[in-house]
Amino acid sequence: MHLGIFDSGVGGFTVLKKVIELCPNTSFIYLADTARLPYGLKTTNEIKLIAEEISSWFRHQNIDAFLVACNTTNAIALDVIKKNLDVPVFDLIGSAASTIEESKVGVLATPSTVKSKAYTNAILKFKPKTLVIEQPCPEFVPMIEMDKIDSDDLIDIAIKYLKPLLNHKIDSLILGCSHYPLITPLLTEILPSSVKLIDPAEALSLKLRLFMDSKISDFSEKKFLVDSKFYVTSNLKQFPFKAKHWLNVFPEVNLVSLQKKGCVS
Ligand code: DGL
Repeated sequence: MHLGIFDSGVGGFTVLKKVIELCPNTSFIYLADTARLPYGLKTTNEIKLIAEEISSWFRHQNIDAFLVACNTTNAIALDVIKKNLDVPVFDLIGSAASTIEESKVGVLATPSTVKSKAYTNAILKFKPKTLVIEQPCPEFVPMIEMDKIDSDDLIDIAIKYLKPLLNHKIDSLILGCSHYPLITPLLTEILPSSVKLIDPAEALSLKLRLFMDSKISDFSEKKFLVDSKFYVTSNLKQFPFKAKHWLNVFPEVNLVSLQKKGCVS
């Protein structure tokens, strides 16, 4: 099965990894919109336009299903993506929300995702009595993209972001941006062991696997390295090194231009 997957940058790798674990015989077209990274502070209109351009590009890529590996786009423009594509679309927020069992749930996410309240609304649909507290984390994505994940600054920033959630005595914490699982070790050092970490990519992968079970019987073939393709919208030379660092592959990467007039970079 050939899947389309996109994010603003390396965040989608965390989704890719979970999917490969559960669905090994998938191949991918991975698109990183590096020219417009980070998405997390963009307006609703900008995100909708980005979603429009990305899904229009994927419409011509011969994919069997599409994975929205970016929470910000998921929160604001899932309808745009679904409207533009005629293949099944798997999303992070809806998938994770349907699995929540806890009663006090913290969400770390980009400012745009938090502003949309998409996590709160999605969780309350399944568990109306849950207390959901969302925390915007504007500094995480730029620092993760620059690979400053071991810096003391990042620890201080993480403590600052987690404090209000811990004051509410959360029992679980959703990593509501696909970049954040890349700093799981740092977060678990700060969090009490009683707080369960939730990576929405796990719920997405399970849903995808169920879908694939209904379509394919042979899961022995590993296609990922053979048939997958990587595209970026800028920084062509850097991206293979980022893929090597986070995914342990050094892929050939292609440059693609998506931007329509009027979309800010
Ligand atoms: N990784 C994406 C998300 O899940 C986008 C982050 C960003 O570019 O700010 O929200």
